[in-house]
Amino acid sequence: MTQASAPAKIILFGEHAVVYGCPALAAPVSSLRAYADVVAQSNPGIVIHAPAFGQALPVGLDVDIVDNALALTVRLVLTATGKTTDALAIHLHSDIPIASGMGSGAAVSTAIARALCAHLGVSMTDQALNELVYEVEKLHHGNPSGIDNTVIVYEKPVYFVRGQIPAPLTPKTPIHLVIGDTGRAASTRDAVAGVRARYDADTVAVSHIFAEIRQIVTDARQLIETGTPAQLGVLMTRNHELLRALTVSSPELDHLVKAALAAGALGAKLSGGGRGGIMIALVTPETTSAVAQALRHSGAVKTIETEIT
Ligand code: MEV
Repeated sequence: MTQASAPAKIILFGEHAVVYGCPALAAPVSSLRAYADVVAQSNPGIVIHAPAFGQALPVGLDVDIVDNALALTVRLVLTATGKTTDALAIHLHSDIPIASGMGSGAAVSTAIARALCAHLGVSMTDQALNELVYEVEKLHHGNPSGIDNTVIVYEKPVYFVRGQIPAPLTPKTPIHLVIGDTGRAASTRDAVAGVRARYDADTVAVSHIFAEIRQIVTDARQLIETGTPAQLGVLMTRNHELLRALTVSSPELDHLVKAALAAGALGAKLSGGGRGGIMIALVTPETTSAVAQALRHSGAVKTIETEIT
């Protein structure tokens, strides 16, 4: 058996605007992971068992169009490596909440591709894997910027601009965050389409929002790399306001953001596609547990404490 895993991710600043070429900052959450096990089997065919995703499917490698992300991942690995195999089972399990803005889809694809390469005895560079997972992301998202697969494959904090080589993001001092999960699944594809509709309806107003987000990301990068968390919090909360203006927040997300700020967070915002899923709160070691508790009292189904270093 071969096993591989990949982490969840959070967007720190700049989601949605990143689809339009603005920069964004993201980081892996290594404590939450998707796992893939590949086991040789005697029956012919490739079968994927993914109970958490409600799937147990044979991989139809003979069909031209693969509209299942898991099957597409397998097919792309076999094509890229020039290998054939027809008697194995892939078992998936994951700690990452699904449709929550944490990159579950990209993490699962990354884990499958890595485990399958190990099983086949071939290696794939991170760059090639990143490109492969990006292809799969197109099925999930329609028009992904590529930030999710990049941060998940490289498992490093990143300053990302669509179409450019990602730059590492190196915090001067650790950034402490609490993640609050609304428990409400939301489609990133729909949220991205909603922003597109808003952009088409009022390009000037939305371009102004993007310009402010661009500035926030630039300032945030500098603050992170010079180590001044209090000012970073102000930028975070402002980024949330701008995401609200883009129509990608939700009453639950707004409620958790307010609760985090009232409990002493330095800043808070939704993270990822929005309209549900998760939010993040910037905290200090002293305020972490009070903020986590306030989030749970305010309806978060789960809180996760994480540190970006
Ligand atoms: C999703 O994690 C981030 C979005 O900006 C979409 C994307 O960049 O592809 C909402």
